[in-house]
Amino acid sequence: MTILDGKKISNDIKDEITQVVAQMKANGQKTPHLAAVIVGEDGASLTYVGSKVRACARVGFESTLVQLPESITEQDLLTKIDQLNNDPEIDGFIVQLPLPRHIDTQKILLAVDPKKDVDGFHPENFGKLALDMETFIPATPFGIMELLRRYDIETSGKHTVVIGRSHIVGRPISILMSRKGQPGDSTVTLTHSRTKDLAAYTREADIVISALGVPNFLKADMVKDGAVIIDVGITRVADSTAAKGYVITGDVDYKGVSQKASYITPVPGGVGPMTIAMLLQNTLLARQRA
Ligand code: GUN
Repeated sequence: MTILDGKKISNDIKDEITQVVAQMKANGQKTPHLAAVIVGEDGASLTYVGSKVRACARVGFESTLVQLPESITEQDLLTKIDQLNNDPEIDGFIVQLPLPRHIDTQKILLAVDPKKDVDGFHPENFGKLALDMETFIPATPFGIMELLRRYDIETSGKHTVVIGRSHIVGRPISILMSRKGQPGDSTVTLTHSRTKDLAAYTREADIVISALGVPNFLKADMVKDGAVIIDVGITRVADSTAAKGYVITGDVDYKGVSQKASYITPVPGGVGPMTIAMLLQNTLLARQRA
């Protein structure tokens, strides 16, 4: 069994980006600049956005954190997005999700200039992804593809079972794994909360990608010997013995499933760090395409 070390691979990618940025600076070119918009005070979202901003410094990018109050109106948020769209200093930006309930998420995502949409959430970019056109691939699915590529895991002709149909992970990774190329060329089954006898599908899978958000959902008796297991879950589970009062827990019952898997991502240290590395990669692409 091989552990897919997202921490190491993400560091390799950050080192590669650092070198490219140093060369850009030496050539007198503009430094890539990422902005992150966060609305409200959600603890997990603040943590994620903080990591994204810190990662910018690590590779030599400029970054801007735009912190807005929970009570902001939809109109004022749209105005802020318009400013970022028109600010030549900003190469790419993200709006951290989820947004407060009084704000229409689709309306906000539609307002982002597709050329600066480094999350790849704009319908134009999502459509391009489905049509194999140049776009920004959402960071988490992009990170999974990069892990599979760098560990040289065969995906062609394999049966990939995705659990979860979210717009951010399940839906796009199911499209990417079925596209032509390596990684890709998989036969994909997309399962979700209404799937009957989900374990019947996962037991047949060569590759399982779980993006459900239910801690320890995938048990050893639900996977076949030699399966490749990608765990996208990052749920905070209360634990009074942990320093922070919680532990980050994946969808996969790691102890049991790792006994049968050929490759498996740990949580933390698997897909999570890859997401940040690929956001940086998309920001670099946005600068290079500008
Ligand atoms: N919330 C959870 N994942 C993400 C992500 O990849 N991007 C943004 N903007 N918000 C998220």
